[in-house]
Amino acid sequence: MIELLRKRRSIRKYTEKVIEPEKIEILKEAVLRSPSSRGIDPWEFIFVDNRELLKQLALSKPHGAGFLKDAALGIVICADEQKSDVWVEDCSIASILVQMVAQSIGLGSCWIQIRNRNFDEHKTSEDCIRNLLNVPGGLKVESIIALGYQAEEKEPVPRENLKYDKVRINNY
Ligand SMILES: Cc1cc2nc3c(=O)[nH]c(=O)nc-3n(C[C@H](O)[C@H](O)[C@H](O)COP(=O)(O)O)c2cc1C
Repeated sequence: MIELLRKRRSIRKYTEKVIEPEKIEILKEAVLRSPSSRGIDPWEFIFVDNRELLKQLALSKPHGAGFLKDAALGIVICADEQKSDVWVEDCSIASILVQMVAQSIGLGSCWIQIRNRNFDEHKTSEDCIRNLLNVPGGLKVESIIALGYQAEEKEPVPRENLKYDKVRINNY
C-alpha cells in the first residue's frame, strides 16, 4: 500500500482504451468493501460509461470536471443522508479506496468534488447530476471519480516535499 501511495497522483488525461469488464468488477468490489460507520453502508454508486452522459457530467461544474468527458468511466458516489450522519466520511473513504484500487490495476483516476459545488448561481452540481442520472431526492452526491488508462505521466511527490512539520508527537 505504501508503494502505491508513494506513486499516487491525480490523473486527468486518459487514452481511449475501454476498461475491461474484469477490472470494472474489481472496482465494484472495491467500493462495496469500503468500511462505513456502524456498517450502515449508506452509499450508492452509479457507474457511468456512456460517452454522452460522461460529456454531460463533465459540465456539472464550471471548473475541475471537464476532463471527465475523456474518461472511460465515472463513478458517481452518493449516499442517503437519512441513514447516516457521517455519510460524507463514508463516501470519502469509498472514493479514495476505489482510486487506490484503480491504481493497483493500472488505471489512472481523479476525484471530482460535487458536494457544496455549483453548476451556476441558480443550480447545484448535485441537482445537475440528479436530473441527468435520475438520482432519487433522498440521496446526496459527494463526488465523481473519473477513471481510465492514463495518457499522462506524473512524477511521484518526492519524500523531501512532504510536510513533516504537520505531524506532531504527543502535543501540538
Ligand atoms: C476532496 C477532494 C476533492 C477534489 N476535487 C477535485 C476536483 O473537483 N477536480 C479536480 O480536478 N481535482 C480534484 N481533486 C484532486 C486534487 O486537486 C489533488 O489531489 C491535489 O491537487 C494533489 O494532487 P495529486 O493528487 O496529484 O497529488 C480533489 C481531491 C480531493 C481529495
